[in-house]
Amino acid sequence: MGSSLEGAGRMRVILTQDQIRRRVAELGSELSDHYRGLNPVVIPLLKGGFIFGADLVRAMAGVEMQIEFLGAQSYGSGVVSSGEVRLTLDASMPLAGRHVLMIEDIVDSGNTLAYIHRLIRSRKPASLRTVVLLDKTDARKVEVEVDWVGFSIPDRFVYGYGLDHPGGVGRNLQHIVALEGPPGDGGSEGIS
Ligand code: IMP
Ligand code: MG
Repeated sequence: MGSSLEGAGRMRVILTQDQIRRRVAELGSELSDHYRGLNPVVIPLLKGGFIFGADLVRAMAGVEMQIEFLGAQSYGSGVVSSGEVRLTLDASMPLAGRHVLMIEDIVDSGNTLAYIHRLIRSRKPASLRTVVLLDKTDARKVEVEVDWVGFSIPDRFVYGYGLDHPGGVGRNLQHIVALEGPPGDGGSEGIS
């Protein structure tokens, strides 16, 4: 009944709930130091950024902010991203003159962030910075500026903590799991 992660291939936990919680607290503290007094517009990118975003903004307690959402979808099937990006939800307030912080779950090829950065820059924000939870550095195809990174991970398909599995499940896991095998071959590399 319904979709299942069974039969999805071998998987292993690469980041536990506790590791994520500690890193989010650290990032929250760095971001708080940066944004205190700037009244930023903080924008989790949907869908994948919703859980990281929810935890991160609460780790920035004491920073007055406004929260908006952008939604993007990267076309492609399975575990390899296409390059073709579509906006599925736009911010409801003007970003001109504002300090914008984008919160993203993962940078893979960089196409999604490059697209989002172009879109936001066209609205003339006072500043634009980006925090991502996961960075697959080795998978980058286009150059994008990322200001804060939670973890650098090997080029493996991952899910959990907001990120979904192609079957459409896994977003509500408290930890992050990697599929063994393709698309990359980075299974033996470490996480930093
Ligand atoms: P990019 O455009 O290739 O950088 O990919 C960015 C988007 O693809 C992310 O916002 C994710 O939604 C999705 N994505 C990339 N890699 C993964 C993954 O390993 N697991 C789940 N989603 C991923
Ligand atoms: Mg996704």
